[in-house]
Amino acid sequence: MVQINEYYSQLKENYLFSSIARRVENFCALHPQADVIRLGIGDVTQPLTPSVIRALHDAVDEMAVKESFRGYGPEQGYAFLREKIAEIDYRQRGINISAGEIFISDGSKSDTGNIGDILGEDNIVAITNPVYPVYLDSNIMRVGKYTKIVLVSCREENGFLPERPSLHPDVIYLCYPNNPTGTVMSKTQLEWWVRYALDNGSLILFDAAYEAFIRDRKIPRSIFEIDRAEHCAIEFRSFSKNAGFTGLRCSYTVVPKALKARSSVGEISINSLWNRRQSTKFNGTPYIVQKAAEAVYSPEGQAEVRETVTYYMHNADMIRAGLTGKGWKFFGGENSPYIWLKCPGGMDSWTFFDRLLEECHIVGTPGVGFGIRGEGYFRLTAFNSHEKTAEAIERIRGWDESKFFREQ
Ligand code: MLT
Repeated sequence: MVQINEYYSQLKENYLFSSIARRVENFCALHPQADVIRLGIGDVTQPLTPSVIRALHDAVDEMAVKESFRGYGPEQGYAFLREKIAEIDYRQRGINISAGEIFISDGSKSDTGNIGDILGEDNIVAITNPVYPVYLDSNIMRVGKYTKIVLVSCREENGFLPERPSLHPDVIYLCYPNNPTGTVMSKTQLEWWVRYALDNGSLILFDAAYEAFIRDRKIPRSIFEIDRAEHCAIEFRSFSKNAGFTGLRCSYTVVPKALKARSSVGEISINSLWNRRQSTKFNGTPYIVQKAAEAVYSPEGQAEVRETVTYYMHNADMIRAGLTGKGWKFFGGENSPYIWLKCPGGMDSWTFFDRLLEECHIVGTPGVGFGIRGEGYFRLTAFNSHEKTAEAIERIRGWDESKFFREQ
């Protein structure tokens, strides 16, 4: 009989958001009349914008004509999109990134999960705690839980920034603006990590999926704003949250050509290695989706993205105001669509999840689902509509949660 990859048995039974979806489904089946408001998974609610829809229609029409039909595309992505990204997301912001350093993909979840394919099993991998579960789970699948993974605590007293690791990791995952805590890293703090990686020969895997939500101009939106980061970092970016592509699927990963890694035959280009991995295991993001992503870079598309981000950040402001009024402690939501609150009355994350669902019919994400350091915290997202967010805040405002404090 075939044997499984035993590391899978070290994983939790279900992926965090699948477990939550199942619990909510059960609740809805038992209470079909409940008007449940979802502030849990970071899934967008606003439709695709007019310029994206137009580009999709045009690309579909192209596919219907022999002369413009496209079959397999380049695994790295079409040049038209890679060039736009290099120009608008990087060079216009003073960062020297070329199209050849950009790989188009179907989501940052895939790329942050797959990047381990090109990294040696002996690397020590530092992962923050709490963390977006994909980084941890994908590494457990690859090397197991016990020997190569170091969890770096992010605590309230440090503003949920990672503690400096006690031993030198070879690979460091950082996500800023942070999922789940909604906190950001200042330029000085990010400079510290880049310096640390350069001094220790480490590789930083920088997830910048939420960069569009940064409102404070002093906060870096790309790790490549930091001097010499191209020698120690890979950056992941997504069209999911800013342009509403969670269903359409498009993202990109920047692997600088200056980035090198050790191998038994000497130094190797990480860019070439990732190119090799992608051309073997990935057939490229669909042409029509890449045309839609290209439309995001038109002047109209850029204005629409700004409008969408402003829309969601208005929700974040509403949530922050509501929680402030309630007297609950929280973090994030200023430069991020996530608000990380401390469960009132010392409730644990899952108890708070259940109470909020049962009493207010609101779904959030229990902090402990992101790691043990998330216990006692809870994440709300700003991705629902204004109306639903306002209604959720109204329900929370009228809720007497203190009866549960006495129960404990
Ligand atoms: C989240 O809620 O953490 C995100 O939606 C997950 C993701 O983008 O995959």
